[in-house]
Amino acid sequence: MTAVAIPGLDSAPTTHSQVLEWVREVAELTTPDRVVWIDGSDEESERINKKLVDAGTFVPLEGKPNSYWAASDSSDVARVEERTFICSQSEADAGPTNNWMHPDQMKATMTELYRGSMRGRTMYVIPFCMGPLSDDNPKLGIELTDSEYVVASMRIMTRMGSAALEKFYADDGSERGFVRALHSLGAPLEPGQADVPWPCNDTKYITHFPEERLIWSFGSGYGGNALLGKKCFSLRIASAIGRDEGWLAEHMLILKLISPENKVYYIAAAFPSACGKTNLAMLESTIPGWRVETLGDDIAWMRFGSDGRLYAVNPEAGFFGVAPGTNWKTNPNAMRTIEKGNSVFTNVALTDDGDVWWEEMENMPSHATSWKKQDWTPDSEEPAAHPNSRYCTPMSQCPILAPEWDDPNGVPISAILFGGRRATTVPLVNEARDWQHGTFLGATLSSEKTAAAAGKVGEVRRDPMAMLPFIGYNAGDYFQHWIDTGKSADATKLPKIFYVNWFRRGEDRRILWPGFGENCRVLKWIIERIEGKAAATETPIGWVPSADQLDLSGLDDPIEDIEACLEVDRDEWRAEIPLIEEWFDKIGDRLPTSLRDELEALKQRLG
Ligand code: GTP
Ligand code: MN
Ligand code: MN
Repeated sequence: MTAVAIPGLDSAPTTHSQVLEWVREVAELTTPDRVVWIDGSDEESERINKKLVDAGTFVPLEGKPNSYWAASDSSDVARVEERTFICSQSEADAGPTNNWMHPDQMKATMTELYRGSMRGRTMYVIPFCMGPLSDDNPKLGIELTDSEYVVASMRIMTRMGSAALEKFYADDGSERGFVRALHSLGAPLEPGQADVPWPCNDTKYITHFPEERLIWSFGSGYGGNALLGKKCFSLRIASAIGRDEGWLAEHMLILKLISPENKVYYIAAAFPSACGKTNLAMLESTIPGWRVETLGDDIAWMRFGSDGRLYAVNPEAGFFGVAPGTNWKTNPNAMRTIEKGNSVFTNVALTDDGDVWWEEMENMPSHATSWKKQDWTPDSEEPAAHPNSRYCTPMSQCPILAPEWDDPNGVPISAILFGGRRATTVPLVNEARDWQHGTFLGATLSSEKTAAAAGKVGEVRRDPMAMLPFIGYNAGDYFQHWIDTGKSADATKLPKIFYVNWFRRGEDRRILWPGFGENCRVLKWIIERIEGKAAATETPIGWVPSADQLDLSGLDDPIEDIEACLEVDRDEWRAEIPLIEEWFDKIGDRLPTSLRDELEALKQRLG
């Protein structure tokens, strides 16, 4: 093979042969003008940010230090589930919930897309580590990208650069393996061609080859599609690794709850996108004496410790949070985190004094530039910020960050919560009978589509463990992995599983539960259940508190509302059964028989 001379290709700060080989292979295919090896330094970050400002991608904010506003192409605003593929050798291994194409066919198609796709651009080599760098077995990756926006965002969201690259060698000097993550905007520049602020391609592929621990992403610059350490690695690829190695990669926040007696409990919770993970992770308690600290708001990796308990680690180093709805009342700790700066805001509104604004934030401006770069006033029909606009901010700035967030051993989980948006049927909180029943609750998790997403508003879809778009293999096998995880453990040490619903509505369509900071009342009940201190009522679906079994002191909401959101209505639940049957039929023959048994038992209990 004759070596092609691409500036920078040969100035690698490593001799790791697999890294060098793969970087060369991709550079020769995509033919960038130069290769830059990312070290993660402040000087480098300044250079990248300046480049983004010069290109018109970033607008520096006056209102926050070292922070930037970005507006995407109007077609490139969210994850593209219909363009997301799990390319396992066998179609059955991708299962009924994923798009699949044979790896050979996908590679042939995408190789042609990648050919010359970085022409006129720089290819950045980003070494990164998901989870603490001090882990004995760090989870490493390299992202190759032609997007400066991706470099700037990966710097916030992951541990990256030289510190990560050092970990590519084990203590004995041997080369460690890593996840290969290739990203191209698919927007090559011809000589003299002017760039656009948000380059991307109408053709998009977000592709995973789980058997090779390989990710190929093409055509999108949006976070979930382009920051490959996040959903692609830490959920889709990691869930497949976890199945092979006996651990769990989940779409869960991790929080620390401290009681008035200073007892510490760790809770993990899975809710679908835009259903309250980031809010709960940073909860400000309304019950005197109870406090929350944050460890993660989106992803948890969980494995058993030597004491037999399940320990969780957050693989990320930043928050990529939904902006609209975030304000000083709903999530003051998120506001305090972004106030400190060093953040990227994408598809929010830019105010005339150079700060950011979005729907439901305090101090609505009388004029702003919308995410579409149009004039916006409070009278405008369109929102100022896109409903899926995001802030990207370092976790280290969170004022209630738990000091143990960077502990490679993780934290021992006492309770796992599942939850979604349901206007009817599902009570405020429900305790599973045991792990298998809890797995059934997770596997049948349901949530209503919000106005922000395509489809009929209020339509219920199953989103198992809030992982529907993120399971990197067959969903039936994934449920079996959950069942096996429970069987492999000492049942007395397993987290207790609960199902919550902050979104039940009254007949007037009003949400009944005050939510946000008041959710600590539910967390308190959960902890007291674990401690054997709180009472509950047995119902066909699990253990549910009555209103007087919850601490409602100081809450001035009408008691009828609270009672209504705790109700378990047998007729509503009987109506749920055919929906669960339909879902289980879709999963097909790899559905664990124990989950069919759970469904039968539920039917029996409902009579
Ligand atoms: P991803 O980051 O996309 O995975 O979603 P997430 O689960 O982190 O969602 P997030 O916390 O950003 O939730 C956003 C939406 O849920 C906003 O519309 C919030 O106002 C709403 N929300 C969050 N918590 C509550 C609550 O306790 N009650 C009510 N009524 N709404 C809530
Ligand atoms: Mn998420
Ligand atoms: Mn979130």
